[in-house]
Amino acid sequence: MHTRVLTGITTTGTPHLGNYVGAIRPAILASKDPNVDAFYFMADYHALIKSDDAARVEASRLQITATWLAGGLDPGTATFYRQSDIPEVPELMWLLTCVTAKGLLNRAHAYKAAVDRNVETHEDPDAGVTAGLYMYPVLMAADILAFNANKVPVGRDQIQHIEMARDIAQRFNHTYGREFFVMPEAHIEEQVATLPGLDGRKMSKSYDNTIPLFEGGPKVLRDTIMKIVTDSRAPGEPKDTNDSALFTIFKAFASPTETAAFADALRGGIGWGEAKQVLFERLEAEIAPMRERYDALMARPDDMEDILHAGAAKARATAGPLLETLREAVGLRGYRPLVKVADIPSAPAAKAKPPRFASFRDDDGSFRFRLFGTDGEELLLSASFADPKAAGILRQKLSTMGGASAAIESHDDHVALRVDGEIVAKGLPYPDEVARAAAVLRLRSALDALAAAQEA
Ligand code: TRP
Repeated sequence: MHTRVLTGITTTGTPHLGNYVGAIRPAILASKDPNVDAFYFMADYHALIKSDDAARVEASRLQITATWLAGGLDPGTATFYRQSDIPEVPELMWLLTCVTAKGLLNRAHAYKAAVDRNVETHEDPDAGVTAGLYMYPVLMAADILAFNANKVPVGRDQIQHIEMARDIAQRFNHTYGREFFVMPEAHIEEQVATLPGLDGRKMSKSYDNTIPLFEGGPKVLRDTIMKIVTDSRAPGEPKDTNDSALFTIFKAFASPTETAAFADALRGGIGWGEAKQVLFERLEAEIAPMRERYDALMARPDDMEDILHAGAAKARATAGPLLETLREAVGLRGYRPLVKVADIPSAPAAKAKPPRFASFRDDDGSFRFRLFGTDGEELLLSASFADPKAAGILRQKLSTMGGASAAIESHDDHVALRVDGEIVAKGLPYPDEVARAAAVLRLRSALDALAAAQEA
């Protein structure tokens, strides 16, 4: 039984250690479980509720995308996308809005806190409160219900939103008389300690006490670690590990053995300055390789765009059919119920150029071909064949196989296609893992397009 695990991160900030340890790292780990079907996304529509700074939202969604990938999320296994690339989400939000009690939304913590602040300062209760903030829980319910997620890993502050999503789902099911939606469960990572920030309170952008994960490089990481607040015990005096933010952060990155050794050093009187250096070095060992991938990704946003494009297509393959059912259920039905879809002549769509083959003779007289993608990009170069018929047979095979079942492998720095046990074609070299993932996705979708054209 597959469990669909879904979570999103609002794209208003730069990822910090707390985001990584509390949300991203455990989610990536969960995505590697073969029984988990992971849906992870950038909640960029939610970002607009919190920020009208377009440049900040733009930077944040890039940074958060790169952080997931640098942290090891495999976009081939997980479904990884931007919320705003899924039109079914706002569409579902409206269907849900129309069954959601206004009173339910009046009770939402974030909205209530804003109103309370206004009342305290003798403002109009709704001063500065947008309808976006008010509707936040319905948008979040749509995020979850559009994919019928079973498990939603979130922080404690989000539990109420998951309960509201259940409430809204139940209301919809009841109103329209069918179990359209499964009930999502909030999942709190109990064993993942909330990471303290510089001042010992929970690490959070709103407390301005965060340690950035990648941005700023090792220098900013070290400088920020040096600002962690400690007590005034001098070198030589034993230190208490119990309420030391420094120790708790160390523990979140180190093995139990390393942690025990660090605790001994602190009890043995190591100075705070030296302890901070130890912490920096331990973190840097963990973070440096990921930061290298992060920097490479940030330098090539095109690759991320490709990955998210493919992710959105995968996500919409789930949400699209559900929305069709829901539209039908609420009465938004076609006017031609008796006409079979197949009878309606389809409008000639303005299509992208389909993938195509180009055959040629090599210098040595052998026969080969290339496969180009929709945008003219070279995807594959075939092996050489002495017999043109053999090349033709292979071309025919590639035209019908479809992307899903194609055996695509990595060989050194390029992808290779295996057919009947043999490598029959290879792609252009790629610089790293992410570009590889993007190349595989483009190749699969080209094979899909060829197969679809054959069927038509
Ligand atoms: N509201 C969440 C937060 O701020 C982010 C989020 C948006 C989310 N949609 C979601 C989380 C759906 C889980 C599921 O943390």
